[in-house]
Amino acid sequence: MNQHYQNIIETIFHQIKNEENPGEVASYIPELANEDPEHFAVSIQLINEENYSYGDHQTKFSIQSISKVLLLCLVYRDMDEKIWERVDVEPSGNPFNSLVQLESDNGIPRNPFLNAGALVITDILIDLFDDPKKEFLAFVRDLTDSKTISYSETVAESELKIGFRNAALCNFIKSFGNIKNDPEDVLNLYSLICSVEMTTLELCNAFTFLANGGKKIIDKKEILTKSQAKRVNAIMQTCGFYDESGEFSFRVGLPGKSGVGGGIVALFPGRYVITVWSPKLNPKGNSYRGMKFLEQFTTATEESIF
Ligand code: DON
Repeated sequence: MNQHYQNIIETIFHQIKNEENPGEVASYIPELANEDPEHFAVSIQLINEENYSYGDHQTKFSIQSISKVLLLCLVYRDMDEKIWERVDVEPSGNPFNSLVQLESDNGIPRNPFLNAGALVITDILIDLFDDPKKEFLAFVRDLTDSKTISYSETVAESELKIGFRNAALCNFIKSFGNIKNDPEDVLNLYSLICSVEMTTLELCNAFTFLANGGKKIIDKKEILTKSQAKRVNAIMQTCGFYDESGEFSFRVGLPGKSGVGGGIVALFPGRYVITVWSPKLNPKGNSYRGMKFLEQFTTATEESIF
């Protein structure tokens, strides 16, 4: 492993671990509230196939909204540019579960990473495949070359029990005709997709094709074209952290995506994918330590896409 990255990661990890960790573990999904708030892990996967991990990197966690990027990629690969007739690519400046813009936008979500946008993409996934649940998991397992990756039915059911807001979003979008299937089927599948569990290194591996012009690094298989990969990275850069996307871009300077499980994945095209996991979230729903770690990482490496 590149000693330079390894030293930087260990130094930042220990420094942050000794500092206060404010914020709250996501509790609106009851099952996520059971997570140990002190978990802290980081992995980096370089495009040259070397990787390095530190902390609780052998523990799988709920990747939640980070799944929306993989969902988008699976559907984008099939539909190509026609996908953008159903969802836009604009930052919303609103929280991940916001309903407010849908009415004036005629049921077209601002971007695929908002819950509204991911529900529309899930609806398309249902139309594309006979067994979309199986297809999505197979896609994720292929990307990571790991057969141990699974859904957590417990987390998905826990989310569905309190998922009134997502149900409202889904029904509202359907009233504009931008959800074609039964909202219950869309919500069930969406919650499962968010419930996927991975380690920090598995999550890095799932995203390496986006740092490698659309091709997996292990078998060089093309997942997306170079142009499609660039576009997905551009949406992560502008929309990956909801109403904190500007802040993440400003502080870190890399495309990335967060989830309420406390994971953040960020990537440097042509170089690496890095994942940090720490369950306590800041008021915008992004991992407190994750943001801090990545800010210090790009500062110390003096590398960012800008
Ligand atoms: O729909 C939800 O609320 C969750 N399944 C995902 C939200 C999420 O991860 C937002 N990201 N920070």
